[in-house]
Amino acid sequence: MFSETALRKGLRTRTFGNKIYTFESIDSTNSCAKAVAACGALEGTIVVAEEQTAGRGRLGRVWKSNANENLMFSIVLRPNIDPESINLLPLYVAVALSEGIEHLTGMKAECKWPNDLLINKKKVCGILIEASIRQNTVEHVVIGIGLNVNQTRFDESLRAKATSLKLEVGSDIDRNELFREIVACLETEYLQIASHGIHTVLPHWLSRTSMINKMISVSQKGSVFTGVVKGLSNDGGLVVQTSGIEKTLFSGDVTILGM
Ligand code: BTN
Repeated sequence: MFSETALRKGLRTRTFGNKIYTFESIDSTNSCAKAVAACGALEGTIVVAEEQTAGRGRLGRVWKSNANENLMFSIVLRPNIDPESINLLPLYVAVALSEGIEHLTGMKAECKWPNDLLINKKKVCGILIEASIRQNTVEHVVIGIGLNVNQTRFDESLRAKATSLKLEVGSDIDRNELFREIVACLETEYLQIASHGIHTVLPHWLSRTSMINKMISVSQKGSVFTGVVKGLSNDGGLVVQTSGIEKTLFSGDVTILGM
């Protein structure tokens, strides 16, 4: 079971993790973080759980993750950004997570638009961002992170497309150490975008993806189309060329073809 003391031991951040709530079991760390954020929780507050009974993923999906083997946590942020820039936040989180994983394991986790990290073409991490926007102002944002760490067995339906750090590295990973490394990278990148602008994340994300010029299929509101990835728009959309025209996507379920 996670303890605040073990998670915090050696944490080298200024504000991220200033308050850490730990749970043996909870419905969803994002739901809890949203509730504490609405009650005024400070930026950098983190909610961590060993198990989620109603973990949530993107597009209304369920996030299933074995208890005691993985990292599931949420951070409250209060970024000073326009609502129009909100789609850049998952890119910032993905870059910071990829750096944290690389520092601790030496593994390159690549960014898959919009919210995933892949290792050897399999999903190792998902990010769920939930923002509270009022009167055209971003009040707070909850960043939810589900990272497969020491899990080695996945449901039949996930086996072909999911992996964990242990499966890729070949040995157990210290989850407390990994948590601290990731939180430190999240804070470093956050300070970077706070002082130089959130758009500065774009080249960092592009340097950690192999999606450019790849053929993808996109499932959006019941329809599916294919296209070639051309890049990112300034506001974090995915630019795709399809049937001779360029489209910018802001949501959807993307599959990289020929992987
Ligand atoms: C996705 O890939 O669809 C995003 C998955 C995000 C899962 C994490 S686990 C911690 C946090 N709490 C939740 O309920 N969801 C996020």
